Order: sequence, then structure tokens, then C-alpha cells
Amino acid sequence: MAEEEKNSKFSNDYIVIRAEENGINVIGMTRGRDTRFHHTEKLDKGEVMIAQFTENTSAIKIRGRARILTGIGEIRSGPENETGTEGARK
Ligand code: TRP
Repeated sequence: MAEEEKNSKFSNDYIVIRAEENGINVIGMTRGRDTRFHHTEKLDKGEVMIAQFTENTSAIKIRGRARILTGIGEIRSGPENETGTEGARK
């Protein structure tokens, strides 16, 4: 294991975000005393982002319909009861 990995103060776990519609926003929030947006990434349907929490990012906000996989489980973001244009979600 690399020295910098051993010394990391933060989890090295990746999170996976898969957009289930166009125009999903993945927003990185700053670590530390203030909680600001520092990065916004737009994903279109089917696009996948694989990311980690870092020294600069302590929270991630996801806007829109997406599947999110993390070490603590899987969740979907977005409206509960809307099925979109393709019928029921599976
Ligand atoms: N800037 C905050 C921090 O680093 C961001 C944050 C992390 C946060 N976890 C939170 C904000 C929980 C509200 C609730 O601590």
C-alpha cells in the first residue's frame, strides 16, 4: 500500500453514481468549518461517476434521479413516485 494511502485521514472508499435521467448534478461540498459547493458535475442518463471523499470534499449532494452505491449500501436519489418516461423503475 502506498505511503499516502496509509496516512490518509479519510476513507479511501469509492462511491459510484449512475444517472438515471439527463441533467443530474453531483455537487462536492467543502470540508471544514464552512459548507460550500466547490464543484458541480453534470451527468446525463447512463453516465457513471466514480469518486472519493478527499481532504477538500466531505459531503456530496446529488440532485435528480440517480443510483448511488457506497460501502454502506445503495440508495436512489430523486422523486419516489415518478416513473419518468420509461415506466416503473426496476
Ligand atoms: N463542511 C462540513 C464539514 O466538513 C460539511 C459536512 C460534513 C456536513 N458532514 C456534514 C454538514 C453533516 C452538515 C452535516 O464538516
